[in-house]
Amino acid sequence: MRFLTAGESHGPALTAILEGCPAGLALSPSLIDAQLARRQKGYGRGARQRIESDHVEILSGVRRGETLGSPIALLIRNRDHKAWSDTMAAEPREGAADRALTLPRPGHADLPGALKYDRRDARDILERASARETAARVAAGAVARALLAECGVAVASCVLGIGPAFLERSVRWEECHDLDEDMPIPDEETRRRALAAIQEASARGDTLGGRALVMARGVPPGLGSHVHWDRRLDARLAFHFMSIPSAKAVEVGDGVASSARPGAVSHDAIAYDGERGFRRATNRAGGLEGGITNGEDVRVTAYFKPLATLMKPLPSVDLATKVPGLAQIERSDVCAVPAAAVIGEAAMALALAEALTEKFGGDSMRELLRNAEAFRRQVREY
Ligand SMILES: Cc1cc2nc3c(=O)[nH]c(=O)nc-3n(C[C@H](O)[C@H](O)[C@H](O)COP(=O)(O)O)c2cc1C
Repeated sequence: MRFLTAGESHGPALTAILEGCPAGLALSPSLIDAQLARRQKGYGRGARQRIESDHVEILSGVRRGETLGSPIALLIRNRDHKAWSDTMAAEPREGAADRALTLPRPGHADLPGALKYDRRDARDILERASARETAARVAAGAVARALLAECGVAVASCVLGIGPAFLERSVRWEECHDLDEDMPIPDEETRRRALAAIQEASARGDTLGGRALVMARGVPPGLGSHVHWDRRLDARLAFHFMSIPSAKAVEVGDGVASSARPGAVSHDAIAYDGERGFRRATNRAGGLEGGITNGEDVRVTAYFKPLATLMKPLPSVDLATKVPGLAQIERSDVCAVPAAAVIGEAAMALALAEALTEKFGGDSMRELLRNAEAFRRQVREY
């Protein structure tokens, strides 16, 4: 299974093409819309989310509520494109475009992108670098999520903290349900501090990052492989998570804490009982050993930097005149970590669905489910 996305932030639409989804998976636009709506929530988001109200159109690969095994093309229109149709026109136009961005924002792709692609207006870069693209990724992730659900795999997430207000204890799977979608922190005191921190940052014209935990339960053992570097599932998960705009670090299981602890308290002792097979009392490894799932929950924590568009901007230099100035201000969020957690769920779903179809076959759901169940039985009877 693989996917591509296309589309600019203020262009007509975003699209995703997902290839390799088995035939016979129940799928509807409303299932995808539910995930798109979650991505638009979150305390600290700006005006754009109120304009958007995303809705997916399924252009191919699905007929009468079931996938066909052919590429699934998804389209999400940008509702504010009308106001940008001249700025973003594909046809040639006389003169320079309005809304040019020539004072690049530190922390964005503006300057490195303009240098790399030899563009004089950094809007040519930021329109695609914008996290608006993640709407297409969340849509593709919703398909992956539906596939995983059929295989008994569920994905959940929570926000662990915003800026200086973060939870230091480990969070259980059971705590990551029915949370407030605007700030899904499973601890009231930390949640209160996080909301206050966002308000204070906003008042200062500043922004905040944070961290989010994404988990998957019901994952069969044996996904990914130790035999080659690019087949290690922890590496593939890290790739998916690191590609989320503003993600700057990815941790599998207790990775960060373990780096400072002795081995005796960093691994998960193996036990066996006749009914459930091999089991672990702890899950410090986050469900992955040697790049292979071990049947425990897969746990990934992603760390996001503070958003780079500041209402009190940092120094920059004009691309054309080379005269120093302050970085340009674009419409922007103060904090996007709750949305990033939802995008993290999509990253988890896509990485696991890729690994699952690779191991169990991807032509039809019946074949996939039969192979997955046979392998689970094989492991039980090992
Ligand atoms: C859901 C989401 C929303 C974002 N919204 C903004 C925003 O409003 N303003 C901003 O400066 N950055 C925003 N970002 C982050 C930038 O897209 C990102 O920092 C930038 O593209 C540079 O990429 P990098 O941080 O991965 O290096 C957002 C990220 C996510 C995940």
